[in-house]
Amino acid sequence: MKTYLVTGGAGFIGSHLCEALLEKGNKVYSIDDLSTGRIENVNILKEKYPDSFIHHTSSIEDAGELIADILEKCDVIYHLAAAVGVKNVVDNPIRTLKTNLRGTEIVLDEAAKKDKRTIIASTSEVYGKAGENGALKETDDLLLGSSYHTRWGYAVSKLADEHLALAYHKEKSLPVTVIRFFNTIGPRQIGTYGMVVPRFVGWALRNEPIQVYGDGKQTRCFCFVGDTINALTGLEDRKEAVGEIFNIGNPKEISMDSLANMIKEKLKSSSEIVHVPYDKAYSKGFEDMKRRVPDISKIKELIGWEPKTSLDETINLISSWMSSD
Ligand SMILES: NC(=O)c1ccc[n+]([C@@H]2O[C@H](COP(=O)([O-])OP(=O)(O)OC[C@H]3O[C@@H](n4cnc5c(N)ncnc54)[C@H](O)[C@@H]3O)[C@@H](O)[C@H]2O)c1
Repeated sequence: MKTYLVTGGAGFIGSHLCEALLEKGNKVYSIDDLSTGRIENVNILKEKYPDSFIHHTSSIEDAGELIADILEKCDVIYHLAAAVGVKNVVDNPIRTLKTNLRGTEIVLDEAAKKDKRTIIASTSEVYGKAGENGALKETDDLLLGSSYHTRWGYAVSKLADEHLALAYHKEKSLPVTVIRFFNTIGPRQIGTYGMVVPRFVGWALRNEPIQVYGDGKQTRCFCFVGDTINALTGLEDRKEAVGEIFNIGNPKEISMDSLANMIKEKLKSSSEIVHVPYDKAYSKGFEDMKRRVPDISKIKELIGWEPKTSLDETINLISSWMSSD
């Protein structure tokens, strides 16, 4: 049995991670300010694991002492708390930068003082506009847009987190691993902050127009959250993963038009599919990538991980969850 601290434990990936760790008989502390996370996720876990799940509602920027205290009892920390979602990031640039820079600095600093195994969440956004010509590897050059485009502030903050994590590894021997999540989907993910699959499924279930941004020809890759959690926990005990960056994602691509059509057909929806220009959906000059595909050979070689759950199955799970929530 191990004891964990999961920051962002009320969130989509965080709550699934807590649940997987609790199911294995571990004890889990969660810190989350519920800004994009949901109290319902916390309550499910509290109800199921009253003795081994302890949640604190607090912002990580203000939780230095709490983190230090919890880390006294902890073996491993997963740092997932962050300002996320393209819409959220574009609408709240200051909060995004503060949470992702200051919050991670506090977590890494406390983890280093106690030499704790640490796994931190980064994002495929750090690749920016690179990747039009093929799958992205952890060692590839990054291609971010201009600072005038608010969107890239999220990538820059996560990239700074990556550098800080690797700097703590180099200078203080912190046993840290950086994860670059590509689009992760599943039940408990909400569409409010710009996540495409829950929005499409929600619109289809309500027979409202499915809004595809841009020309719909841009592709994305979607990984089921259960597969993502297996990748995370699979890396935790591997010495070779320390001081390293790993992509976690599903390399299978789908265009946004095809995704909209697939969801509409699967859910037997009467929604029409409409195209909305990026300028209208976000703001003037908004930049998007045509494609972003993960190369997952590094994690596959180390722990034999690859995604197992199809997009079709995942959409079934999401729509059942949305219909019952
Ligand atoms: N879901 C994806 O496709 C995806 C892709 C790339 C990266 N990520 C990364 O994975 C992590 C989890 O993302 P998610 O998809 O579960 O999103 P999420 O919004 O569900 O989870 C983030 C959690 O962090 C919490 N949080 C935000 N600011 C906080 C603060 N200052 N203090 C304490 N808690 C705070 C939120 O309330 C939320 O519960 C994030 O670090 C995100 O950047 C996710």
